[in-house]
Amino acid sequence: MKYYILFGPPGAGKGTQAGALAQKYNLCHLSTGALLRAEIAAGTSLGKQAKELIDKGNLVGDDVVEGMLESRFAQASGIEGFLLDGFPRTISQAEDLDRMLAKTSDKVEKVISIMIPDAMVAERIAHRAAIEGRADDASEETIKNRIATYHAKTEPLIEFYKAQGKYEEADGRGTIEEVHDAISAIMDK
Ligand code: AP5
Ligand code: MG
Repeated sequence: MKYYILFGPPGAGKGTQAGALAQKYNLCHLSTGALLRAEIAAGTSLGKQAKELIDKGNLVGDDVVEGMLESRFAQASGIEGFLLDGFPRTISQAEDLDRMLAKTSDKVEKVISIMIPDAMVAERIAHRAAIEGRADDASEETIKNRIATYHAKTEPLIEFYKAQGKYEEADGRGTIEEVHDAISAIMDK
């Protein structure tokens, strides 16, 4: 199995890009945010715990997100691999992922980062708030905390994956098609 990571700040376009990429490269798209939102919608106890943290823009516990992913990895069939969106988000999650994949002699192939400036993050999230009604898009304070959490906890992963020679950057400021082409060029390298 091949494991690709779609990386980038909140609102960069990870979810927007993932569908077409997953189809093109026969990958299963796994968004930890979407999996958590499905748990919330289903009213599970996991969802109830996660909701409080998500609504404030804080990260959910490692065990919760890693458990959700590992069970999906185990069910893989008929695909080339996985396109991870929103995971890992901390150095400890990245280390846990490496350990998880080592069990099946797999590894992360590439980390593709969709880069946009913070001002554009706010703009895109505001645009999405009007369309999708996500609870964590509704308050200015939550959005600010998500951006701050990204810089404090997630951004250090750039150096982590650069050190492994796996980090690649796509300019996220263009149209959806332009960003797709930029990511495809990296996947095809
Ligand atoms: P998650 O769902 O991952 O949210 P996020 O990281 O904040 O990222 P977004 O989904 O907001 O952004 P995106 O990059 O997918 O952008 P999108 O394509 O929608 O996580 C939510 C929460 O769950 C976290 O805060 C945390 O609490 C928890 N969580 C998740 N994973 C976790 C983990 N691993 N550990 C712990 N907790 C975790 O695009 C945004 C908007 O821009 C859309 O309206 C789109 O139409 C538009 N757009 C996209 N591309 C373009 C373009 N090129 N031009 C113009 N508009 C565009
Ligand atoms: Mg998303």
